Amino acid sequence: MRRWWSPAAARIVAVYVAFSLAWILIGDRLAEAAKPASDGLRLTIEDAKGTLFVLITGALVYALVALHDQRQRALRQEQERAYDETLSGWAAALDLRDRSTAEHTSRVTELTVALARRAGLSGHDLVQVRRGATLHDIGKMGVPDEILLKPGALDDAEWVQMRRHPELAVQFLHGIGYLQPALDIPWCHHEKWDGSGYPRGLAGEQIPLAARLFAVVDVYDAVTCDRPYRGPMPHTEAMDLVRAGSGSHFDPEAVRLFDELMSDRSPRHDGAPERDRRP
Ligand SMILES: [Fe+2]
Repeated sequence: MRRWWSPAAARIVAVYVAFSLAWILIGDRLAEAAKPASDGLRLTIEDAKGTLFVLITGALVYALVALHDQRQRALRQEQERAYDETLSGWAAALDLRDRSTAEHTSRVTELTVALARRAGLSGHDLVQVRRGATLHDIGKMGVPDEILLKPGALDDAEWVQMRRHPELAVQFLHGIGYLQPALDIPWCHHEKWDGSGYPRGLAGEQIPLAARLFAVVDVYDAVTCDRPYRGPMPHTEAMDLVRAGSGSHFDPEAVRLFDELMSDRSPRHDGAPERDRRP
């Protein structure tokens, strides 16, 4: 059944009615007390009373609605913050499970948002990019420990399992309404510009923009991080690797923007970037 009762609307109307009644009662008495000398002056006072009533009640209703609107906005922001904190919690759980990627999520998320901004995304789109990047590998929650944490190289069958993580992410998240627009990155971040990626073999602009941008950042961060089986690749070499993948692995425009972004960034990106702080 539709709910007609609205406490907020009732409060606004109550203030409006109380003010209007007070205006009528007090205004009439004041007009009477003034005892206008002529009918003309009485009409002028009546007109002024009416005009003032319209102006003051207009301002009053505006203030009450604006106040209500402000409260609603604050509530929405609080809700959005709670959503994002929940997502960060999930990402932290995955990082705890796979220590080799600790801090990877926060780094790639910040860098992807900066890149997306440079690509012209803003507002709600940027929020979705942030959420998608935070959850990019959440599907790995469904990959067995013996594969996810295996110290050596994976065999073919294990790779098949590992490569299911984008689809597992969709399975995990498809029932969560507010995350639907953020699924592009978890689902498509292993697609490649030339169509040789997975899980669907999308090519070119079939791959959502957010995923094309993220793919560049993800590979850059992966190669510049310290791993137990190899040292971190220096920034300049990593950038050469990214540029070499332009048009095959990566969207050429995404590579161009990334190049631009990293050139404009602080000097810490001129040498070896920050490393995972492994315990
Ligand atoms: Fe992944």
